[in-house]
Amino acid sequence: MKVRVRVPATSANLGPGFDVAGLALTLYNTFTFELVDEGLHIVGCPEQFCNESNMTYQAFKEAANHCGLEFNGLRIECSGDVPYTRGLGSSSTCIVAGIVGAFAFLDKAQDRQEILELATKIEGHPDNVAPAIFGGLTVSVMEENNVLTLNIPVKHEYRFVALIPPFTLSTEQSRKVLPQTLPRQDAIKNVSHLALMVASLINGYDEGLKLGFKDRLHQPYRGDLIKGYHEIMDALEKDEKILGCYLSGAGPTLMAVIKEEDKMGVVRLKEELGDLLTDWQVVKLELDQRGYTCDYE
Ligand code: HSE
Repeated sequence: MKVRVRVPATSANLGPGFDVAGLALTLYNTFTFELVDEGLHIVGCPEQFCNESNMTYQAFKEAANHCGLEFNGLRIECSGDVPYTRGLGSSSTCIVAGIVGAFAFLDKAQDRQEILELATKIEGHPDNVAPAIFGGLTVSVMEENNVLTLNIPVKHEYRFVALIPPFTLSTEQSRKVLPQTLPRQDAIKNVSHLALMVASLINGYDEGLKLGFKDRLHQPYRGDLIKGYHEIMDALEKDEKILGCYLSGAGPTLMAVIKEEDKMGVVRLKEELGDLLTDWQVVKLELDQRGYTCDYE
């Protein structure tokens, strides 16, 4: 028997919701797991990840340990479109897939809350793994070892234009530049922006989004790590048809939110940003509403 798990890309933080808010996108990685007689066999990903430190394997092993699955050998086949180390949740796809894969051999693949708690423990924060598990736009709260995730009902149809640079930025490096404490005014701004953003999404108040996506907790510190960040964000802020923009996860991808009917959004952005986007990928995505899927072959 083989278990196939498909996991969506995610975009975390959404500006002010650092380590709290995230959304799932229509871009996917797929992983197939098969229990074999011996050894670890990983195919479909770059050579440097085909060994015991592979994140999917590590998550599978931890989940197997957690739920009492015994196995001698494992074959993992990976494929997909989520770019590595770009702020689109590729690590979360690996972690979630590894856990779901192990749970599936014990018929537990739909235990989403238990999968969330284990995935959060492995990742350290819930904002990427939660939407990868539940789909849609989520906010999560960590309270000791418990994680509470809620889906935010988004009233209007939006599209998420991911501006993906040709270079990478590791989450570790991107977290290192963050200060330990914040000025009170910045903390107040972030709380108010997050509240405004969530309320605007629920009520369909598009006018609240540009301010609602603004952040003072992490983006000001991370911007200098990303070539072109300030110029591109300025241009996105000035474009009246762009409802909001933010740094996706730990970066370096930037995200522009547009209305579904703004069909020319991508073409316009490419024209406006010109040389700043040389070698960048510009990809228009939708909200994934399902989270991971799992089936048996
Ligand atoms: N909230 C996380 C961060 C997302 O911004 O560092 C990336 O793992």
